Amino acid sequence: MTVLVTGGAGYIGSHVARLLIERGSKVVVADDLSTGLEARVTAVEHVQLDLASADAVQQLRSIIKTHSIESVIHLAARKKVGESVALPEWYYQQNIGGLANLLEAMKAEGVDRLVFSSSAATYGMPDVAACREDMICQPINPYGETKLVGEWLARAAARAWGLRVVNLRYFNVAGAGWPDLADTAVANLIPIAFAALKAGKAPVVFGSDYPTADGSCVRDYVHVHDLADAHLSALDYLERDDRKFDTFNVGTGAGSSVFEVLAEIKRVTGIAFEEVVEPRRAGDPPSLCADVSRINEELGWHAKQGLAEIVESAWSAIN
Ligand SMILES: NC(=O)c1ccc[n+]([C@@H]2O[C@H](COP(=O)([O-])OP(=O)(O)OC[C@H]3O[C@@H](n4cnc5c(N)ncnc54)[C@H](O)[C@@H]3O)[C@@H](O)[C@H]2O)c1
Repeated sequence: MTVLVTGGAGYIGSHVARLLIERGSKVVVADDLSTGLEARVTAVEHVQLDLASADAVQQLRSIIKTHSIESVIHLAARKKVGESVALPEWYYQQNIGGLANLLEAMKAEGVDRLVFSSSAATYGMPDVAACREDMICQPINPYGETKLVGEWLARAAARAWGLRVVNLRYFNVAGAGWPDLADTAVANLIPIAFAALKAGKAPVVFGSDYPTADGSCVRDYVHVHDLADAHLSALDYLERDDRKFDTFNVGTGAGSSVFEVLAEIKRVTGIAFEEVVEPRRAGDPPSLCADVSRINEELGWHAKQGLAEIVESAWSAIN
């Protein structure tokens, strides 16, 4: 089976590509290398392509034909929340325009299997202990909106021409499956804390007065290797004709607070720092955790690694 992995030069996509190859699949990566790294795809067939560009449909059709692509894992997207607030048109053009081009090419070439990278950002500010996939989604920024609209677009294609789709709503992805595929963007708590420590500074906690057990925000951290493995389970699920659902949370089902993550970082790094507490940031939900019963039962997928493995692998990848 040959799988097209869009965004395969990115942090998560490169893990997905490597796991697929380990499983014996052939992989072709399409990526514009805007945030992705060429070093992550040196051993993989890859094409540099902006999926949202004017000639993307033609280029994608050519890739599908040349490589006899049978299924697509679509990770290519812009993902910076603040940037999406400042540049909403561009976010819709990139994330929705790119997906629309991809679907048009898939339809034209008769490729009907898609795994789509969605996000817990579709839930917005949920007032529940664990988000269920059947909850009403109320994203609070254009980034989260593009993920929800992407799910709708894929579902509409399923109704219109029989696309088989699985939307995976990732929670907080962290860790490294292989040291050379580490997350190099300093955008999430763990890489931000490591960058602060390497600069000799103390990590910052935004808000310690949330209605959580220790007052800091709680998130569901999922190891990137486990997440990549969920894509393989999703591809297998697409082969079944009795699929009950098209959308699945990917998390551990257990939350960790910012203070708990920082305590783990102290243990793993051996650096005894005193975190700095600052006021809350706008738009941070107090708690965002996954109900994972659907993916556990339907896809047979379970996260195998926890916070310790996440922090250990992320730290050893950059040292
Ligand atoms: N990292 C997380 O915690 C997280 C959480 C939820 C969802 N996601 C989603 O997972 C996917 C992968 O995220 P990541 O963390 O690996 O980010 P990343 O920035 O490392 O990867 C995204 C990849 O897509 C490529 N890309 C972006 N726009 C493109 C375009 N128009 N055409 C072609 N290539 C393009 C980039 O060059 C990059 O290689 C994204 O869709 C993101 O929204 C990530």
